[in-house]
Order: sequence, then structure tokens, then C-alpha cells
Amino acid sequence: MAHSLTVLGLESSCDDTAAAVLRRDDTGETTILSSVVHGQSSLHADFGGVVPEIAARAHAEMLDICVEEALTQANTSLHDVDAIAVTSGPGLIGGVVSGVMCAKGLSAATGAPLYGINHLAGHALTPRMTDDVSYPYLMLLVSGGHCQFLIAHGPDAFQRLGGTIDDAPGEAFDKVARLVGLPQPGGPSVEHAALSGDPLNFPLPRPLLDRPGCDLSFSGLKTAVLRTRDRIIEENGGLPEQARADLCAGFQAAVVDVLSEKTRRALDIYLQNNPSKPTLCVAGGVAANKAIRSALETVSKAFRAQFVAPPIALCTDNAAMIAFAAIEQMGVHPADDLTLSARPRWPLDQTSPAMLGSGKKGAKA
Ligand code: KG4
Ligand code: ZN
Repeated sequence: MAHSLTVLGLESSCDDTAAAVLRRDDTGETTILSSVVHGQSSLHADFGGVVPEIAARAHAEMLDICVEEALTQANTSLHDVDAIAVTSGPGLIGGVVSGVMCAKGLSAATGAPLYGINHLAGHALTPRMTDDVSYPYLMLLVSGGHCQFLIAHGPDAFQRLGGTIDDAPGEAFDKVARLVGLPQPGGPSVEHAALSGDPLNFPLPRPLLDRPGCDLSFSGLKTAVLRTRDRIIEENGGLPEQARADLCAGFQAAVVDVLSEKTRRALDIYLQNNPSKPTLCVAGGVAANKAIRSALETVSKAFRAQFVAPPIALCTDNAAMIAFAAIEQMGVHPADDLTLSARPRWPLDQTSPAMLGSGKKGAKA
């Protein structure tokens, strides 16, 4: 029987500083006692994207505060923490270093073992924390910095079936919002504008659908939106409200079509080898998009597959997923020591070739 375990998790790989406390009881059940996330959107708003130096400095300032808040909300103290988990890659290096240094300090001061966690593993293991999904399952990880199809075979055994060869979808949503003058983060703004738009008014490409496999591309779609916007402005002397809504709707429809078709292909490949476990899970900030969520649910139904989409707060960056990944991985590899270093690139599937390209949030993993 498992022992009760309290784990403090830290996350600082992009533009959210987060800390969380999880407890696994002696029956093996895990509870999120607290999950604190301090976003940095306002600090980066004037720059049109995340500025790594500003992000790193803000993480260094906020980590202690987040840890204190997380411990207080969990009604516990550092003395009761049995392990410290921290995102040690991939991500913006300055932010990851801030988190790793903070975690090392806490580990050295308390004697609690230290676990360096892959941020992508945190996202990919989230359906086990929220819905108790058993291995194996297919995961579509779709965020501002990442887009990949993974088969989760175990706590540290992931097989990548495909991914973006250039930008991540969230990054494309953010860029489209900037192009049409909507506020950041772009995903929610574009989704809202799309509600009153006609997706058929401005035809946009569906990149890579003509190529076999489940790799994706979003950079050509962004360029097509830019060209269409310029044409509308030239013809109208500005961007009329309705044209803006139509462009957002057209863009979102293209993303929905691409993600749906590539998910069908990934499910096909996955089910060939795992016919008795039809499960599709989604995680990452873009999974908050209702049109995308419901399209993926429709695809799952067509395959008679279970569809699992964690609550939005656990789809986007958070530290509960990092603490949970540490609990999952304790059985498969030992704790790290104070030589733990930050890794800007850290593919989950070490056997697949590295993905091409790099996005606003750093090198693709
Ligand atoms: O997972 P996340 O919080 O951070 C990482 O990128 O790791 O995802 C943030 C991304 C942003 O690009 C944001 O625009 C996008 O997720 N996003 C959305 C929506 N909400 C957030 N994209 C489309 N529709 C949404 N409703
Ligand atoms: Zn993330």
C-alpha cells in the first residue's frame, strides 16, 4: 500500500508563475490541495509577445510569493512537504532557470527530494490526474508553444506520432488577433469575434492536408490571413467590423478542419496498435476553444473513442500537473540532485527526430 505523500510543484517555463500542493493518500488517491497561477500578460502586453528577459525577472520575483500562497491555501507548511517538483524544461531558459534555482533552494533547506519534470509530460499526464485515465491513451497537446500527437504508454514513455513543423495553433491565434487589432491572448478574442462571423466569406488554406501522416503546419495559414486582411483594407480603406469577424471565423474554421483531420489520422494509427483502448485526450490552452473542443469530441464519437478534456484551468499552464507528474514518475526514475539543470529543448519522445521550427515561446520540443 502507498504511503501518504505531499508534493510541492513549481512551474515557470513560459509566462505563468505557478505553485501547487498535491497530496497522495495511502490508498493512492491524489488531491489538489492548492494551485496558484500568476499570469504575466500585462507585463508583455505592449510588446506583442512574451519577452524572455521580462518573463525571467518576473518569475524570479513571483516564485516565493506563489509558493507561500500555495502552502497557505493547502493549509500546510514546508516542513510537511515530502518532495519538490519543478519544470526543468523545455521552455524559455531564463524562466526555467528561475524555477529550478528556487526548487533547489527549497530542497536544500528542507531535505525534501527534488524532481525535475518535463513540462510536456505535465500536460500529457493531466488526464490521469483529472479523469483517472489508464494507459495507453492518445493525447493531442495543443497550446501556445506546442502541438503534437502523443501516445502515452506510461509515466515516462511517450511516442510522438506527429506535430507542428512550424508554429503552434495558439501562436497562430495570437498572431491573427494582432493582425486584426484584437487584444491578447488572441485565442479567446478570436473565438469571440468568430461567433458573429461567416467562415465561408474569406476562403483560407488547410495546410498539409494533402500530405500523409499527422504532422501539422500553421505558418502558411497566418500568412494567408495577413494577405486577406491587407486586401480587405485596400478595398475598404479599413477593416470593417463584419469583415474582421468573418476573417476570424474563417481562420478558426481552418484550424478546426486541420486539427480534426489530423486527429482522425492519429486515431487511426493509435487504434491499429491499441484497438481495445479507444481514448483521445486533449490538453493545452487551445483546448479551451469551444469549436475545437466540440470538433474533437465529434471525431472521437465517430471512432467510438472516449474523449477526455480536463477543466480549462488544468489544460493551461499550472503547477498541479508538474507535482502530479512527479508522483507518477517516482516509481520509474530516481530523484534528481542539486546538479539538476534547465533544458530549453527536451523532447518527450527521445526516439523521434526533433521537430522543425521554433515558436514565440521558444524552441519546439
Ligand atoms: O497552454 P497555455 O496556457 O500556454 C502555453 O502555450 O504553454 O496556452 C496559451 C495559448 C495562447 O496562445 C492562447 O491564445 C491560446 O492558448 N488560447 C486559445 C483559447 N484560449 C487560450 N486559443 C484558442 N481559443 C481559445 N479559447
Ligand atoms: Zn504548457
